[in-house]
Parts: sequence; structure tokens; C-alpha cells
Amino acid sequence: MTNRTFTMIKPDATEKGHIGAILKIIDEAGFRIVAMKIILLSASKAGEFYEVHKERPFYGELVEFMSRGPITAAILEKDNAVDEFRKLIGATNPAQAADGTIRKLFAASISENAIHGSDSDENARIEGDFFFSKLEQF
Ligand code: CMP
Repeated sequence: MTNRTFTMIKPDATEKGHIGAILKIIDEAGFRIVAMKIILLSASKAGEFYEVHKERPFYGELVEFMSRGPITAAILEKDNAVDEFRKLIGATNPAQAADGTIRKLFAASISENAIHGSDSDENARIEGDFFFSKLEQF
């Protein structure tokens, strides 16, 4: 089992000035940031990242949203990182997210939900490698 996960602070949270507050919560929850960058995804790169959702009705909206402003991509390390991070961010739909979770605090809707967290160790590796070269992962 890997002890790493991948996250993105999404354009909605960036626009509202929440990057610092979210990173503080991640830090205080005991995650070590092992790679991080702020980048603006092109629509084509956002579409590639979310290719798994290509057939879903919300795919177009998702690609437009994820490419409308900068995201903060990061690889995080902690024991049981994938599960622990998904607990920290809360349910995909902020209306169903537990109190104190990042999505409960900062997300407005199921589509603009502030932050991404990988759903498996395999996807954490794939998603981390999408954004960071081996030289950028410490
Ligand atoms: P995330 O879990 O990071 O990755 C898939 C994203 O698709 C999800 O966050 C939401 O931003 C978006 N998404 C999932 N379900 C819906 C939905 N029903 N309507 C719109 N967007 C969605």
C-alpha cells in the first residue's frame, strides 16, 4: 500500500482566495507535501485528466470548470493517505459532506467542490504522474 495521494485545489477555491486556508488544514492534518505546483490547465489537458468521466453528462461542464482558472496540484504523503485524505475533504457533494471537512467549509456545489482527492492508490500514482515528473516527486 502506498502512503501517497494526489490532490488539486480547484478553480472555485482559487478564485475565492482559499488556497492558504486549505493548505493549512492539510498541513495540520499531518500530510507532508512532497510535490506542488499552481498551473492553468488547458481544456484539452483537463479533458485528458478526467477522461474516465468522458461519457458522463457533466463531462463538458467539468472540463470547462477545471480550465477556467488556476489549480494547485500536489502529492501528499501520510500513512493510509488515500483514505485519510478522502475523510479530510468529505463527500463529493458538499451538501452531504461531514462538518469540518474541506468541502463542507469551502465547496459550493457538487460540480464546484473546491478540491480533488484520488480514490485509490493506483489512481493516486497515475494522477501524480500526470502533473509531476519523477524529478519533481521527492
Ligand atoms: P472529483 O471527485 O474531484 O472528480 C470528478 C468530478 O466531477 C467531481 O469531483 C466533481 O467536480 C464532478 N462531478 C461529479 N459528479 C457530478 C455531477 N453530478 N454534476 C456535476 N459535476 C460532477
